[in-house]
Amino acid sequence: MSDKHNIVTIDGPSGVGKSTISRKVAAALGFTYLDTGAMYRGVAYYLQELGIIFDDEARVAQSLDSLVLKLLPARDENSDVEVIVSGKDVSRQIRTPEMSMAASAVSKLGAVRSKLTSMQQEIGKHGKIVAEGRDTGTVVFPMAMYKFFLEANPEERARRRVLQLNEKGESADFDQILKLTLERDKNDSERALAPLKRAEDAIAIDTTELSIEDVSRKVLETIKARSFSA
Ligand code: DC
Repeated sequence: MSDKHNIVTIDGPSGVGKSTISRKVAAALGFTYLDTGAMYRGVAYYLQELGIIFDDEARVAQSLDSLVLKLLPARDENSDVEVIVSGKDVSRQIRTPEMSMAASAVSKLGAVRSKLTSMQQEIGKHGKIVAEGRDTGTVVFPMAMYKFFLEANPEERARRRVLQLNEKGESADFDQILKLTLERDKNDSERALAPLKRAEDAIAIDTTELSIEDVSRKVLETIKARSFSA
């Protein structure tokens, strides 16, 4: 069983700053950063490579028995985690806008969610973690003591995504990214299983007007205050 003090959950829609903030918070606390979105991306890559159509849930479920998915810690605070699928490093391939949409599409499948939720809970049993995703506070670690839900308006989130892609040397069109952001919000929040939503006991932070440092500080101060009062 995971100790509720050992788990911090940070959920929210895409482009809200979850990854950067979760990495910073994890580094400050000395916790391991668990990027659950990277796992959905890894599964989408795996199924695509096998040529499996996502709608064929029976084949998806069967193929998950042979899934070998590993997450390796990021090289530094500013890097993404490394994702290894069937022994191959796919960290770069899974970060394209197309793979974001593919990950969102596979994430609505029950077989995928139950497989990844169990893997995430298993990881949570063995250490102190900052888990980031869509359902980490509602479904994966409902007993966590420190839960956050980040929000920001879609235009600001799309602007941040464009900047992020540009920083990686990739070009991106704002209107196209905004369209994909809205589509992904809709997929992720309207699906039947573990939809994106704030856990009742999660603290909501609107990051639209805040810097990464402001949000990280707010999260860390809340954790500190709560752990003293617990
Ligand atoms: O956080 P991300 O952009 O890397 O996530 C990619 C997709 O994975 C996201 O659109 C929905 C899905 N996902 C999910 O359903 N549950 C999670 N806990 C994390 C991600």
